[in-house]
Amino acid sequence: MLLEKDAPRLEHTGERPLVGVCTTGSAMAEQAYRTVGIKEVERGAAIGVLGTDLVYRKHVLSDGKTRPGVALVTGALTLIEQMFGGGAMPFVRTNVRPNNEGSKPLFDEHQFENTGYPESKMEIGPGVMKVASSGQLALFRPAGLSPTQLRAPGWSTRATPPPRRRP
Ligand SMILES: CC(C)(COP(=O)(O)OP(=O)(O)OC[C@H]1O[C@@H](n2cnc3c(N)ncnc32)[C@H](O)[C@@H]1OP(=O)(O)O)[C@@H](O)C(=O)NCCC(=O)NCCS
Repeated sequence: MLLEKDAPRLEHTGERPLVGVCTTGSAMAEQAYRTVGIKEVERGAAIGVLGTDLVYRKHVLSDGKTRPGVALVTGALTLIEQMFGGGAMPFVRTNVRPNNEGSKPLFDEHQFENTGYPESKMEIGPGVMKVASSGQLALFRPAGLSPTQLRAPGWSTRATPPPRRRP
C-alpha cells in the first residue's frame, strides 16, 4: 500500500491519502510457465492486484521523477525479496490484459518478459477436454534479478497480437 508522503492526514481515517495498492503472494512452479524452463520444485512469487487512485494517474511522486506505478511494483518486488529471506530473488509471475497499455510498460520496465497467452486443458464433460486461454498475457520475471533494477521498455512498445481463437 502506498500512501501520500507530504499531504496532511485525512480527518476520517487519520491516515495520509492512498496513492495505490499492489498485492503479492507465493507461486508454485506449475503456476509459472513450462516454456520459461523453471524446475518443478522451484518456488516463486506472484503479483496480484495493482492499481492507483484515479487522481494519481499520469502523476509523479514528490521526488519529482517516480511514477506511482513504479513505486508500487518496486516496493512489491522488494517485499518479495524480504519474504524469501533476503537471499536470491525468486521468479515472479503476473497476468495482464493485452489492451492494458498502462501496466504492460510498467512490468516491462521491471524486467518482466511476455510469455504470451498460456492455455490450459479443462474437462467440460465425461472425457471431453477443452483447451482454453484466459485471454490474459502471462508475464514472467526470471529469478536472480535485482528488485530495484529498471530497464527501458522493449516488448511492451510493440503491438500485442490478440489471443488465438479456437473453433
Ligand atoms: C497500471 C497503473 C498502476 C500504472 O501506473 P503508473 O505507472 O503510475 O502510470 P500511469 O497511471 O500514469 O499510466 C501510464 C500510461 O498508461 C495509461 N494507462 C493506465 N492504465 C491504463 C489502462 N488500464 N489501459 C490503457 N492505458 C492505461 C495512462 O493513460 C498513461 O498513458 P500515457 O503514457 O499516454 O500518459 C495505473 O495506470 C492504474 O492503476 N491503472 C488502472 C488499473 C490497472 O490497469 N491495473 C493493472 C492491472 S494488471
